[in-house]
Amino acid sequence: MSADLRTTYMGIELAHPVVPSASPLTGDLDTLRRLEEAGAPAVVLPSLFEEQIEHEEMEVARLLEFGAESFGEATFGYFPELDDYATGPGTYLDLVNRAKSTLSIPVIGSINGTSKGGWIKYGKLIEEAGADALELNIYFIPTDPKMSTAKVEQQYLDLVMSVKESISVPLAVKIGPFFSSIPYIAHRLVESGADALVIFNRFYQPDIDIDDLKVRPNLQLSSSTELRLPLRWTAILHGRIEASLGVTTGVHTSEDVIKLLLAGADATMMASALLHDGPDHLRRVVSGVEQWLTDNEYQSIEQLKGSLSQASSPDPGAFERANYMKTLVTYAGPFV
Ligand SMILES: Cc1cc2nc3c(=O)[nH]c(=O)nc-3n(C[C@H](O)[C@H](O)[C@H](O)COP(=O)(O)O)c2cc1C
Repeated sequence: MSADLRTTYMGIELAHPVVPSASPLTGDLDTLRRLEEAGAPAVVLPSLFEEQIEHEEMEVARLLEFGAESFGEATFGYFPELDDYATGPGTYLDLVNRAKSTLSIPVIGSINGTSKGGWIKYGKLIEEAGADALELNIYFIPTDPKMSTAKVEQQYLDLVMSVKESISVPLAVKIGPFFSSIPYIAHRLVESGADALVIFNRFYQPDIDIDDLKVRPNLQLSSSTELRLPLRWTAILHGRIEASLGVTTGVHTSEDVIKLLLAGADATMMASALLHDGPDHLRRVVSGVEQWLTDNEYQSIEQLKGSLSQASSPDPGAFERANYMKTLVTYAGPFV
């Protein structure tokens, strides 16, 4: 009998834990269909960005103002309401709507920003367009040395609270790894309303071109070596917070998925691997997970989940500082 691959992620039952993460692949109906055919148990759509929304709203406001000066009708409601405009956000809501009517798997919408403001009403609009859940990606890069850690964290919490208040579908919060205490911020985000945490945002570090002395954006796909950071924090957070754990960054193979499940992930998220190898890669990864479970006599994902988390591990120190010193002093390479 084959193993039961089902998992529950923020209250939603998934057929298995390998979910296509937000990327251009999930922003197109054809590739969404191909992902579903390859067995995706849910999809996370690309984000609607705070900047996109604000830009569109400013443009529309400018048009309305221009129109109001030019045409008397404007004052009598000649111009359509903002939400009726075929703007960027409108196109996004249309994508949610069409994804939902085309696919039979759960569709998770995504908004991406940093500050509380009018843009967060799009969380509700995405829900109304049919999304089964919402992912809020908070990608904040503090640059002001006078902005305290407490203030940065409060900004995250305020944003999560505002979004949570405005929606009734489950909310996942996607964060980066740069906090003084990940368990503390994780706990506070959950207290503020996150039903799942998605760890970790992959920060795209700009590069400097030394020929023309310009700063260049630089997007490179990940590799499995990047899994170690979320792997450690999944193991530490599992069982310590009252929320599901979705894990992103460095998930490429069935081995990566199994490691994360052992550490305690409820869902694993894949973008680079699918962008590199195409939607069918998902099927291969899932079948590798299934084979491993059978070979190792596991009946279900639930049985495996978290069995090597820090709380359950026979060697909890392996996830902490204890292992750090041992790793450094026992290093052996070609010159030592
Ligand atoms: C081209 C590209 C576009 C992405 N767009 C989004 C996005 O719109 N919203 C988001 O939350 N993450 C976005 N991501 C991040 C991925 O969802 C994922 O979290 C990240 O790439 C790490 O996972 P990976 O190692 O599987 O690539 C994007 C990634 C790539 C490569």
